[in-house]
Amino acid sequence: MAAARKFFVGGNWKMNGNRSSIEGIIANLNKSEVSIETDVIVAPPAVYLDYTKQTIQSGIKVAAQNCYKESKGAFTGETSPAMIKDIGLEWVILGHSERRHVFGETDQLIGEKVGHALSEGLQVIACVGELLSDREAGNTNEVVFKQVKAISENVKDWSNVVIAYEPVWAIGTGKVASPEQAQEVHNDLRVWLSDQVSVDVAQSTRIIYGGSVNGANCKALAKQPDIDGFLVGGASLKPEFVDIINARQ
Ligand code: PGA
Repeated sequence: MAAARKFFVGGNWKMNGNRSSIEGIIANLNKSEVSIETDVIVAPPAVYLDYTKQTIQSGIKVAAQNCYKESKGAFTGETSPAMIKDIGLEWVILGHSERRHVFGETDQLIGEKVGHALSEGLQVIACVGELLSDREAGNTNEVVFKQVKAISENVKDWSNVVIAYEPVWAIGTGKVASPEQAQEVHNDLRVWLSDQVSVDVAQSTRIIYGGSVNGANCKALAKQPDIDGFLVGGASLKPEFVDIINARQ
């Protein structure tokens, strides 16, 4: 029986934009009709977090794209969950494939960051996903389950976690996973949660899809029973982000 999982759409702006373009994105979101049936989060670059929080409509939450696993100290260049909370934010993205593959973050570090962010009272969008080579070798589930296990070991309260399944081969490539491909992994992740955590957590945890989602392909993906929303990169910088927010309407 499908639990009522609220649709969730995050916009990950990555390292894009400047004050003026971000002002434009926010102005567009502020005048748009955003469904109250969807939890909407945007994640600007760290230096624009405060500005975004101050100017975006209250129905849209703001997330950091990353954080460290300590609350303060000699960690040049890093941001702590305590600081993210301090400017009034509630969310952080962790384990994004670019953190894993460009910056070499390991499953263990990501797990520690998830544990620390949750313990500081943030909610976490925790990302997992396989490389094309993993998929071609038939190792998708093995890789994704290993990533989710490292996260799971650091989660006490799953109501503060959204899992983002983002196949690396689909991110920023224009090669979106088919609704069936995405649904298959989402279902497998839910079965994993049911076996390894609890049936209740499996039914209630949102599992969102990311990787080349756009205004044209979002509706077919959103129809899948285990796809509870999206994490959107490129298209979240464009007006079509509003169509993605409303994909279930
Ligand atoms: P994309 O990025 O939508 O540009 O493929 C998705 C993501 O990295 O979250």
